[in-house]
Amino acid sequence: MKIDVEKSLLWTSVAAFGLFAIGAVLTTIVPPLVSPLMYKTDHDVHEYTEQEKRGIAIYKAEGCVYCHTQQVRNLASDRRRYGWRLVQAPSSESWEYVNDKEHFLGTKRTGPDLARVGGKYSSEWHWAHFKDPRNMGEKFPDRKGIYEKVSIMPKFDYLSDEEIKDLTAYIQTLGRNKNWRVDKDGNELNDYEK
Ligand code: HEC
Repeated sequence: MKIDVEKSLLWTSVAAFGLFAIGAVLTTIVPPLVSPLMYKTDHDVHEYTEQEKRGIAIYKAEGCVYCHTQQVRNLASDRRRYGWRLVQAPSSESWEYVNDKEHFLGTKRTGPDLARVGGKYSSEWHWAHFKDPRNMGEKFPDRKGIYEKVSIMPKFDYLSDEEIKDLTAYIQTLGRNKNWRVDKDGNELNDYEK
């Protein structure tokens, strides 16, 4: 019996689902079977503490991922932009994420990438920033000497003190699996603040 697939709703659906299923299996189930690098690494990867895990839950619930990515791409512009005091940030590598049960790679950068933000600021800075980001990002003063409040990040001042601490603890872990910040004498600065 000859079947005109394009004329039959049933067979078109079966064919479409079949192709979709092949794609899904090849991109989700096969890779971890073929390469253990998806979930294992020889690198020393940070294990999240209970406090940091609570921070991850807050990051997820507050939708930070809608404005922030967590991936420094292998582009000179990305490495410069997310670097620190003229030290360029290394681009993100897959092993850095093996302990992440949920990923926040994100697709949209309304705010800056956060993949290397851990250790960039003190926890006090994050505290003030979460309370009122618009009070922090300032442009050069205009002729009258008035600073413009430039951040468009919303306030998270409704979070409790404990929640802000948990969230900050998580943010401070980001990108610190690689020890890349060095001062001008070459001293490593990865854990200047625990
Ligand atoms: C509406 C978009 C938006 C949302 C939602 C948002 N942010 Fe932001 N964020 C920004 C923008 C824009 C900036 C840059 C200006 C500034 O520093 O405030 C920023 C800056 C930051 C910075 C400083 C980054 C750096 O390298 O200077 C951190 C850390 C941060 N956000 C964390 C968070 C966390 C955590 C959440 C969720 C609780 C969040 N943001 C939610 C837009 C957003």
